[in-house]
Amino acid sequence: MERIRLGKSDVYVSPLGLGTWAWGDTSVWDYGESYDDEDLMQSYNASLESGINFIDTAEAYAEGKSESIIGRFVSETSTRKQVIIATKFVPSRLRILRSQLVAALRRSLRRLGLSHVDLYQIHWPGDFIPIETWMHALADAVEAGLTRAVGVSNFSVEETKRAHAILAARGVPLASNQIPYNLLHSMPQRNGMADLCRELDVTIIAHSPLCQGMLGGKFTPTHPPPGLRGRKYDHDFLIKTKPLLGLMKEIGHAHDGKSPAQVALNWTMCKGAVPIPGAKNVKQARENLGSHGWRLSDGEVRALDKASEAVQI
Ligand SMILES: NC(=O)c1ccc[n+]([C@@H]2O[C@H](COP(=O)([O-])OP(=O)(O)OC[C@H]3O[C@@H](n4cnc5c(N)ncnc54)[C@H](OP(=O)(O)O)[C@@H]3O)[C@@H](O)[C@H]2O)c1
Repeated sequence: MERIRLGKSDVYVSPLGLGTWAWGDTSVWDYGESYDDEDLMQSYNASLESGINFIDTAEAYAEGKSESIIGRFVSETSTRKQVIIATKFVPSRLRILRSQLVAALRRSLRRLGLSHVDLYQIHWPGDFIPIETWMHALADAVEAGLTRAVGVSNFSVEETKRAHAILAARGVPLASNQIPYNLLHSMPQRNGMADLCRELDVTIIAHSPLCQGMLGGKFTPTHPPPGLRGRKYDHDFLIKTKPLLGLMKEIGHAHDGKSPAQVALNWTMCKGAVPIPGAKNVKQARENLGSHGWRLSDGEVRALDKASEAVQI
């Protein structure tokens, strides 16, 4: 699998990665019920064996458990040299000092069992402490050798510009902005974010590229998603998205039977973003891997864009 440079950093990732929010999480996801650590280990191994090298986690995921699970897998499989590990800092209201970011990163590193991560991101801009503080703290983390590159997440166009400028003044490139980007949330191509990131050479990492499984095609008005997702993606939503999913199936069929999930991920890659789909088991990991190695035509991308216009979240 080819590699993509994250912005102007020296970190190179596979065209799609592996998201691990669900690893250990019981608040939104059903860890311990429909999947366990053995399933996660198999999806980790299958992903690495197929050329994926990019794993995304966060201190917030299952209160650090996702990081701990990854740390165990990396150590048990001796795969540190193969993987690019990204994690994230929560800019909570209890965090007011620049030094708290480096302290939080050190705790993440302990859970991951690593001396440094490859990408450290601010999980969201926060509304209490100015972005400037956290950008300087990220640059401090690079200087301390605790991360190779830095990124932001859920930053707006204006916030991304500011973050980029502050880091640039410290001689540190802003490698990435991790944002929701999928067929049901294609705002980045309309609000100037995609253009800005291209202009500044900041890689877009597409989180929730399957819209939390809604683009996988298995949920229908008569078979809605379980738990919290069922409230967010309700009956009306599932009725409205049927035509889009129908087109995705049709297009996938024309590409040797690619699934809706594979079409959704390929669309994200066609947009120049790096999707990080979550996979709870090896079947999902393998299916998601099948989104790579072929390409939707420009006409198909346009048709999907058009069909998704009416169902934007
Ligand atoms: N920065 C942020 O604020 C932020 C926010 C959200 C996510 N993220 C990152 O992005 C990653 C991915 O996002 P996400 O986990 O929210 O959602 P996602 O990748 O859009 O969807 C993942 C879920 O879809 C289902 N799925 C996976 N592969 C499938 C397939 N081939 N066919 C059908 N269903 C499939 C699984 O759930 P079921 O089997 O239960 O349906 C899986 O847990 C996260 O793990 C995290 O690393 C970041």
